[in-house]
Amino acid sequence: MSFKPATATDRLVLPLDVPTVEEARAIVAETQGAVGVYKIGMQLQFAGGLPFAEELARAGQKVFLDVKLFDIDNTVEQAVRNIAKMGMTFVTIHAYPKTMRAAVAGLDGADLCLLGVTVLTSMDDEDVKAAGYAETASDLVKSRAVAARAAGMGGIVCSPREASELRTLAGPDLVLVTPGVRPAGSSADDQKRVMTPGDAIHAGSDYLVCGRPITGAPDRHAAAKRVMEEIAAAL
Ligand code: C5P
Repeated sequence: MSFKPATATDRLVLPLDVPTVEEARAIVAETQGAVGVYKIGMQLQFAGGLPFAEELARAGQKVFLDVKLFDIDNTVEQAVRNIAKMGMTFVTIHAYPKTMRAAVAGLDGADLCLLGVTVLTSMDDEDVKAAGYAETASDLVKSRAVAARAAGMGGIVCSPREASELRTLAGPDLVLVTPGVRPAGSSADDQKRVMTPGDAIHAGSDYLVCGRPITGAPDRHAAAKRVMEEIAAAL
């Protein structure tokens, strides 16, 4: 099953990083038709986000559960089995080879794209060293991308700045999801290494995660549409 996006709108992932389900529901209503995938992360998961994720999936939306699974193999496998039953389209797993193999075993042919989180973009070489790794952050990203493909994962989450090298390394089929996307002229917020939607597409990104420039805009539908149009122009 291919999770490659068909249209420019399909490629836009909007994170619902808000404190309550009520606010998330309002954002979904305002951005209908301009967003391909809604991402539910840790903040909302701890405030009713899981039943809300199922509600969205039942309503026909594509939902990305950004839960970043990491545990013993059996627990990860069984978690993936249950997440598949929730009707999710994407779910994140930390990209340890063994953990990814366990996640793939839990798929059982379900229509769910498993995404490996290579190295969090908030971590630099020093953080990676402090965590006990001898490689640089960039080398670790590369080896984990290769491991994700070998494990049978659907894709990886990476910085748009790494996308072009990883596309070459991991081949055309692996789905690349890139956060840190900012339309020209908008604030980078706390993202350190941003790219515009057009540049992210040129670098080989399949799905672009762009949150606060849309959720913080006075007209969210218009803001999402502008990002989508920038994606379309680059395709
Ligand atoms: O608002 P903004 O566009 O910065 O949101 C980016 C989203 O992508 C957030 O939900 C954040 O948790 C997620 N993310 C990220 N960097 C990663 C992995 C996930 O920004 N490396």
